[in-house]
Amino acid sequence: MIETSLWHPVAQSPEVVADKPLPVQLLEQSLVLWRNAEGAMQAFVDRCPHRGARLSMGRIEQGRLECPYHGWQFAAGGQCVKVPAVPDFVPPPSQCVKSFAAREAYGLVWVRLDGAEAGDLPLFAAEADGHLRKVNCGPYDVAASAPRIIENFLDMSHFGFVHEGWLGSRDATAIAAYKVEPTPTGVLATGCKAVQPQSNLHSTAAAQVEYTYEVTAPYAAVLCKVPQEGTSKQGWRESIGLFICPVTPDTSRVWFRLAVADFDSSDEQLRDFQHTIFVQDQPVLESQMPKALPLDPRAEMHSAADRMSSAYRRYLKAGGIAFGVC
Ligand code: FES
Ligand code: FE
Repeated sequence: MIETSLWHPVAQSPEVVADKPLPVQLLEQSLVLWRNAEGAMQAFVDRCPHRGARLSMGRIEQGRLECPYHGWQFAAGGQCVKVPAVPDFVPPPSQCVKSFAAREAYGLVWVRLDGAEAGDLPLFAAEADGHLRKVNCGPYDVAASAPRIIENFLDMSHFGFVHEGWLGSRDATAIAAYKVEPTPTGVLATGCKAVQPQSNLHSTAAAQVEYTYEVTAPYAAVLCKVPQEGTSKQGWRESIGLFICPVTPDTSRVWFRLAVADFDSSDEQLRDFQHTIFVQDQPVLESQMPKALPLDPRAEMHSAADRMSSAYRRYLKAGGIAFGVC
């Protein structure tokens, strides 16, 4: 499965505290996240190799993960180092729990399941801009496949209906032609224009906005606001990253990472705005059938406004993606 060779977000970094294991799920695999004594992130299969108990119900003892059932202890990397019922026994290297590569970036924990440690995380160019303020929103647990959620994010023609009065209006539903091109890692749409009644927290009047949308990995996308002439924040490329954990083929855990030039609002105010918009999307997303995104172009009908979503579907197909698509 090609998806196992990608890095996926599974939790927010601060959720994984020093003294408590955290259960998560990725690609239908139950995992336990925890930190060793040095604070290094660990991701194990959430099943003890002794009698199958959930390791995430255990605890951290002296920088090791201790199983809740018979107290076997596992060190960073997965080696069993203690069997309390047989104190003198030194467990051999084969006595271990499966461990996966884990990283922390964008305020999130990232895991890949194929045993490799290399490879790039999905790009989020705004991360490198030290001027922009970064705030994460989520998680949202959504009963929809990750590709349906990405496609919704790339789609401007629902604004006037799903986000009426916010990102769009029923009086201005036409989508001007925009450009779509492949990138080394995904697909880029440029020149995406919309008139938005309330495009952000501080909007006081409808404004013409221009965005670029980029698919940066099969389950990741970035919206970037194109700076407009005459605005005080000219030159700042504010962005929203969408990072999705494909939990099962039909369910997903979603985070947004905001990179904004708003230094006045509180984190809560920024999150509230994003929340308002996403809970407008969520019921429609969860209603879509089939849950999986169809990659056969004949399976659903398309309009000229959908060329970005069609390009995204072709990209998933070309990349051999099978999880969350049909
Ligand atoms: Fe984990 Fe026995 S089941 S120590
Ligand atoms: Fe939406």
